[in-house]
Amino acid sequence: MRRKISYLLALAVSITAIGTGSADAATKLNPQMQALVDSYQKEAGVKAFSADEGKKLFMSKRMHSVKKEERSCTTCHTTNPAQTGKTVVGKPIDPISPAVTKDRFTDPKKVEKWFKRNCEWVLERECTPKEKGDYITFMTSL
Ligand code: HEC
Repeated sequence: MRRKISYLLALAVSITAIGTGSADAATKLNPQMQALVDSYQKEAGVKAFSADEGKKLFMSKRMHSVKKEERSCTTCHTTNPAQTGKTVVGKPIDPISPAVTKDRFTDPKKVEKWFKRNCEWVLERECTPKEKGDYITFMTSL
């Protein structure tokens, strides 16, 4: 009986450890950002967002119809979210990964402003709620 109890105890401890481990690896959104992501989810009508799709959006390149140049999120943020990026005029941009730059994805107004600007610069349109949710899910999974 005693052995059984200590076995169950050990099991409970290891399950808790696994849970804490994954929470540490990913960035948890603050309540106002969680509310924004929830609103994207409602608009998109999806069960969950996909970090893989977010990564694809981040990495994909697209030919601009007017500028005739290849553009991507990685043009400024580099292909490594943990790395310092640069604007088109060469000004440094703090790493876009919230694991590195702690105030990333904490301010819904800032996030919306830059999604609008940058999606238009790269895609010549605004990003959809699905794309925004996937992107944030990818970034917070790093
Ligand atoms: C032309 C350069 C450039 C490109 C291309 C670019 N960004 Fe950015 N991005 C910036 C700058 C500049 C900032 C704001 C400065 C800062 O926060 O350090 C920023 C900030 C952001 C933020 C705000 C994050 C936060 O909470 O701090 C988001 C979201 C974002 N970018 C998404 C994207 C996405 C999605 C793409 C691709 C569709 C993209 N960016 C492509 C330059 C760019």
